[in-house]
Amino acid sequence: MIPDSDLVGQSVTLTAFREEHAERYAAWLADPYIQRMAGEEAETPEQVIERHRAWTASPTFLEYIVTERQGGTPIGDISLDFAHGDPRIGIMIADPAYRGRGHAAEAFRLVASVARRMGARRIIAEIYDWNDRSMRFHERMGFHRARHDDALHEWIYEANIDAPPLPPSAQGHSSGGLTG
Ligand SMILES: CC(C)(COP(=O)(O)OP(=O)(O)OC[C@H]1O[C@@H](n2cnc3c(N)ncnc32)[C@H](O)[C@@H]1OP(=O)(O)O)[C@@H](O)C(=O)NCCC(=O)NCCS
Repeated sequence: MIPDSDLVGQSVTLTAFREEHAERYAAWLADPYIQRMAGEEAETPEQVIERHRAWTASPTFLEYIVTERQGGTPIGDISLDFAHGDPRIGIMIADPAYRGRGHAAEAFRLVASVARRMGARRIIAEIYDWNDRSMRFHERMGFHRARHDDALHEWIYEANIDAPPLPPSAQGHSSGGLTG
């Protein structure tokens, strides 16, 4: 899927992938931390472009590049995979300098609104059981643990999104949740 339009938040903008992002995206995938936490593998910029061609051609996969608004720097990506019913969310703030600033939370709220508009009432997250930071993040966003996949070493988290998310200003920066 190609995003209908950019999503503009206070601190981040979410846009479609463009070929100019490929080199940076390949550098993100080369980071051993991203590989371990997000299950990624190193790719060349050409492979990154191929991957995104497949994603935009797919009727069930929606991905945005997350760009920090102040400096205009692309810092990661966020995606929704509708292939198996309730959408699976994937998020990486790949540039470590931009983690811990609330950018992931804002990107997440923007994408959760899109999921809701597309008819989703629940979002799933699959998180390696060694990724404590991601578990903390998703719990702050209103996810709860549904089950553990022993074979994949993942916790499956779920969040109900049957009410629109509160704007960040109504939540304070460290609380969260999609439904308030
Ligand atoms: C998981 C991940 C997306 C979370 O991103 P994050 O930047 O840590 O999350 P947030 O944007 O919500 O930032 C939260 C932290 O910023 C702090 N913060 C500072 N200013 C903030 C603000 N204005 N708004 C929100 N939080 C703010 C929070 O207190 C919190 O700190 P804590 O983790 O010590 O409690 C990120 O760590 C990441 O991309 N990791 C690598 C890839 C990965 O693991 N992806 C997930 C695969 S399942």
